[in-house]
Amino acid sequence: MKPGPPPDTAEARRRYRQLASRYDRHIRFVAPLRRRAVERLKLRDGDHVLDLGCGTGASFEDLRSAVGVTGQVTGIELSDEMAAVARQRIEDNEWKNVEVLVGDAANVTLPSDVDGILFFETHDLMRTPAAVKRAVAAGGPGARVVAFGPASAPRWAFPVNAIVRSVARRYVTTFEGFDAPWSHLAAEVPGLRVRRLFLGGAYLAVGQTAGPPRP
Ligand SMILES: C[S@@+](CC[C@H](N)C(=O)[O-])C[C@H]1O[C@@H](n2cnc3c(N)ncnc32)[C@H](O)[C@@H]1O
Repeated sequence: MKPGPPPDTAEARRRYRQLASRYDRHIRFVAPLRRRAVERLKLRDGDHVLDLGCGTGASFEDLRSAVGVTGQVTGIELSDEMAAVARQRIEDNEWKNVEVLVGDAANVTLPSDVDGILFFETHDLMRTPAAVKRAVAAGGPGARVVAFGPASAPRWAFPVNAIVRSVARRYVTTFEGFDAPWSHLAAEVPGLRVRRLFLGGAYLAVGQTAGPPRP
């Protein structure tokens, strides 16, 4: 199979400019998976967590509950319009310890020494080696890393693939790496554990950065 083009950030900005105002309505069905992904980060009071491609901040409530009022949530988002919705969410909830940095995760300045790193439904980011490398480098020793997203199911599950692709094509600018979207992350996080979900049409990857596990 041909490798496919790399993610196209200009196209993603254009796509999400249009999607931003109605995006939250489209994603309600993944709320239980979002909760599960955040649980796998094993965050504690006072932790700092990075939410790559945070979009409208749909994970913020779960992340903030996990780190408490003394912790910190930092979202990174490419699209100004998605980030504006996320910032409105922060303001509406009067969260003082949640922030959004707008820019391309491949080159925006990231915080350092974070305790948790989340990629939730961010195929384009998962297929951008520089973004993955920089995100993992932002983790302190033993920081937890969790990624969830769509993937190609095995050939026998072709109806699953048809559904997954038809939904995903709205949100991704490439299907490059759709067979193993976690491959760049696995190169940065030795021992990354990947579990296939929904007959292989999605995955949950969990690991930790090098160094001793956090006590
Ligand atoms: C499908 S949305 C997921 C949003 C959010 N994580 C969620 O769970 O609802 C993918 C998001 O990744 C963002 N994104 C894509 N490429 C990016 C990049 N290079 N740097 C930062 N954000 C990016 C998009 O703008 C979009 O908001």
